[in-house]
Amino acid sequence: MTLERVLTFAKTLLSKAAAEGDIAVDATIGNGHDTVFLAELVGESGHVYGFDIQEEAVRATSERILQAGYADRVTLFKESHENLADFIPEKWHGKAAGAIFNLGYLPGGDKSIVTRPDSTLKAVEQLLSVLKKGGIMILVIYHGHEEGKAERDAVLDFVQKIPQKEAHVLKYQFMNQKNDAPFIVAIEKMKA
Ligand SMILES: C[S@@+](CC[C@H](N)C(=O)[O-])C[C@H]1O[C@@H](n2cnc3c(N)ncnc32)[C@H](O)[C@@H]1O
Repeated sequence: MTLERVLTFAKTLLSKAAAEGDIAVDATIGNGHDTVFLAELVGESGHVYGFDIQEEAVRATSERILQAGYADRVTLFKESHENLADFIPEKWHGKAAGAIFNLGYLPGGDKSIVTRPDSTLKAVEQLLSVLKKGGIMILVIYHGHEEGKAERDAVLDFVQKIPQKEAHVLKYQFMNQKNDAPFIVAIEKMKA
């Protein structure tokens, strides 16, 4: 047996939560790898809503989903995820099956453009109402950079206070890895 790696475990959880016909959210599309993964999960009859504040990320992700043949099942917004509830059609509020945040900066991009605690927490709160009962939200937390440490602390403080009746919160982290290896927070919504 091998312990599942952090990013693989995130995918395992999402693939248990989302299936053909579902709604999913990629809150930080970056280069689009997670967007394509979610688009595969929700299939032709489902839909993925993706957000990023950088034009470069929206362009890279558009190309990736086009190449994968998934353009019809993905809608991308060049918008901060802190306003995601305004962009995801209201008919899907309370209906989404899965969501992912890959926090930090765009790999290969401008490292000064990073996710920030305030907007991340606003997005998490909104996603809690956009998810359905049993839906799962994953946050992949990179805390090697200075802003990442503050964001990690803010996220951990926030999620630990979510009442157990509303959501189950899991932290999945290898304890003895060097260089501030990323870890996951997974939130399973328990109430409709
Ligand atoms: C680690 S990258 C995401 C990587 C991506 N999942 C992939 O598969 O390539 C983080 C992304 O979050 C974006 N970002 C930063 N602040 C944001 C915000 N407020 N709303 C949405 N995206 C944001 C950055 O522009 C960056 O592209």
